[in-house]
Amino acid sequence: MKRIIAPSLLSSDLAFLYRDIEMLNNSEADWLHIDVMDSSFVTNISFGSLFIQYVKKYANKPMDVHLMIMHPERYIEQFKKCGADHLHIHYEACIHLNRTILSIKESGMKVGVAINPHTPILLLQDLIKEIDFVLLMSVNPGFSGQKFIRNTYKKLEETKDLILKKHSSALIEIDGGINLENASFLFKNGADILVSGTTIFSNDNPKKIIHKMKFGDQSS
Ligand code: DX5
Ligand code: ZN
Repeated sequence: MKRIIAPSLLSSDLAFLYRDIEMLNNSEADWLHIDVMDSSFVTNISFGSLFIQYVKKYANKPMDVHLMIMHPERYIEQFKKCGADHLHIHYEACIHLNRTILSIKESGMKVGVAINPHTPILLLQDLIKEIDFVLLMSVNPGFSGQKFIRNTYKKLEETKDLILKKHSSALIEIDGGINLENASFLFKNGADILVSGTTIFSNDNPKKIIHKMKFGDQSS
């Protein structure tokens, strides 16, 4: 279990983006999570590759890019060029998922498959050996600040079982509604990576929250 923290810039104060990137550079955060939305797969519109290009210029940590867009295969090269290190695509948004996974790997990025709260884990059984991450959505994608869906605990168990059964080395990433309480439980129960927006950025001391989320239940 890795205890990786990936703060989601969707909840940062974009008017002070450089300040927040610097804060993350100097924090115990491991990656920067960037949510790309197209108003089609989800109703919201957020960032594109230009945004990522500028974040990359100042960030000193890997860029974990979560595509909430239809037909993500159209943009693999674009996201590679602007500096994405990991590219997550949604199971629900890809018709030729196997081909898209291979293209992302060929481009040199790590690949994750994200699944919505209603999508069964079993649907990943034929591709779990091919991917670097399973991204379990613990809210319905599209917005920060939503409540954690408790059924995710069951899905975490099912994902662990599937990874074991298929001898996969995929890491388990969980995204949405993460707070200090559920973070500790999720890490103890097999999550490797937690994405968190509101809990980190709405606090006056985000670095302290990142530390607590990562180690809070191990030290004080
Ligand atoms: C939701 C996004 C999340 C979001 C998390 O669609 O994928 O990454 O920014 O934000 P919180 O932690 O506020 O739920
Ligand atoms: Zn996300």
